[in-house]
Amino acid sequence: MTDSKTLVDAARAVAQQSYSPYSKFAVGAAILWDDGTMTVGVNVENASYPLSVCAERSAVSAGVTAGKRQIVKVAVWANVEDVIAPCGACRQVLYEFCSTHATKVEVLLAGASEVRSTTLATLLPDAFGPEALL
Ligand code: THU
Repeated sequence: MTDSKTLVDAARAVAQQSYSPYSKFAVGAAILWDDGTMTVGVNVENASYPLSVCAERSAVSAGVTAGKRQIVKVAVWANVEDVIAPCGACRQVLYEFCSTHATKVEVLLAGASEVRSTTLATLLPDAFGPEALL
């Protein structure tokens, strides 16, 4: 089973692949899925700025494309002094794939010299999710 250090290390390593020429803010994300495998993602910016995609959503897309549906754990890394936290849009997209167990989904917020642990339910309380529609 992938441990937290492995997940954070993967997020840090993949941040090297970030395409962020505009913000120059490289972000890496790693997601552990219920089958024990991991997917990673980076932020992919665009000259048409609003089309940029965050690292977390890239990692979700990679997993869903590979047939995965249940998130177990998430790590997000950027080269900042303290830690980075997912934006609101990414919290919502992550929630789609763990709405039944969001209180148990650990989100590791990582920076250059610190890792903080929280949960998706803490990051996105009173969430709107698939249960409302399916
Ligand atoms: N970004 C992420 O990829 N993830 C986050 O959690 C926060 C922000 C990206 C979006 C943009 O490419 C750059 O960081 C600056 O906002």
